[in-house]
Amino acid sequence: MRIVVLREPARTERRVALTAEGTARLLKVGHTVMVESKAGVRAGIPDGAYEDAGANIGQGAELLDQTATVLAINGSAAHRIDGLNKHHTLLALLDPLWKPQHVEALAKNGPTLISLELIPRVTRAQTMDVLSSMATVAGSEAVLLAARTLPKMFPLMMTAAGTVAPARVLVLGAGVAGLQAIATAKRLGAVVEGYDVRPAAAEQIRSLGAKAVELDLATEDSQDSGGYAKEQDAETASRQLELLAHHVGQADVVITTAAIPGAASPLLVTTSMVESMAPGSVIVDMAGERGGNCELSVLDEEVNHQGVIILSPSDLASGSAATASQMFSHNVVSFLEHLTGEDGNIKLDLEDELTVGTLVARDGVIVHPRILEKLA
Ligand code: NAI
Repeated sequence: MRIVVLREPARTERRVALTAEGTARLLKVGHTVMVESKAGVRAGIPDGAYEDAGANIGQGAELLDQTATVLAINGSAAHRIDGLNKHHTLLALLDPLWKPQHVEALAKNGPTLISLELIPRVTRAQTMDVLSSMATVAGSEAVLLAARTLPKMFPLMMTAAGTVAPARVLVLGAGVAGLQAIATAKRLGAVVEGYDVRPAAAEQIRSLGAKAVELDLATEDSQDSGGYAKEQDAETASRQLELLAHHVGQADVVITTAAIPGAASPLLVTTSMVESMAPGSVIVDMAGERGGNCELSVLDEEVNHQGVIILSPSDLASGSAATASQMFSHNVVSFLEHLTGEDGNIKLDLEDELTVGTLVARDGVIVHPRILEKLA
């Protein structure tokens, strides 16, 4: 198989889909790799490192002039490049449930599109779980950003200059990113509380040494069969806000990570809740790309509301671009191994749940039922 790695176009995107180690792993089993020039530079991987691993460096038309499996982090890398057609299979984070029209446009010339965020969360796919890898990095980065922005230190300190109280951190949404945020804030010495609408998350929060916020809400039915949160009815959502208000008002830092796959993110921090926080407090809203969990968040901008700083960066995982790229590369190589048939090419086995779950389009047509539903 000929594998092509694209450079990411976004100014803030520093990750690359395949590392030099990943390249070596693919070459070892007989594939060839062409990396777009400078694709890895911002993750600390110069072109020379890929060449040392055995890849070719290319650019422009030569990237897609033959049949290829194309790797990218974001769909935007493929939107930028001309010539993606039925001879190509693209594996990337295409965000098809949130931006189905983008995927529809990309599908027009017939490439096979495989969306990595749709890899089912089943045990045998854990080594391929790009979403968990990126959420792990982003959750940690969110806390580091908050710690840098907060005008206080995180740990309790008894010094000759007096006792310094620890920072109080509240994490809303305790999935992969939220649990990593809790673990990072604990390591930095903060007093940490976590909350999730799924009752099962309370035990995980406690296992990290944080306090689980338990609200007097009927949320036994809050989880679907895949382990994801479902949208709540309006009455439960409004009661949740009422009960969370006290916890938000007490916090120096609030990290929000709550998401519903394919839907707008739930509102968890209202303007009046922000106004109840002490000036200097910090909110990092990790759900900004889906509308945000905080009413005042503006994606990729710093908002100062009565002294409370609200940040909603879309590029948190790029903060540790080398680690994020290493994990992404590992996941994508494992997935490619899974998809490769005996002849060394991609084999789309429509009996396989990983293939069916991630195959978005082929031959110019969207084939994924959930995306067709969104487009309708
Ligand atoms: P996500 O990114 O879709 O959402 C983040 C968190 O927000 C979730 O924990 C969700 O319950 C929470 N949330 C949604 N609405 C909320 C609200 N109104 N208030 C408070 N919290 C709210 O989720 P993520 O991190 O992708 O994980 C979701 C589930 O998938 C978890 O149960 C996790 O354990 C499971 N999982 C399973 C894996 C496997 O291989 N079996 C791998 C990774 C995750």
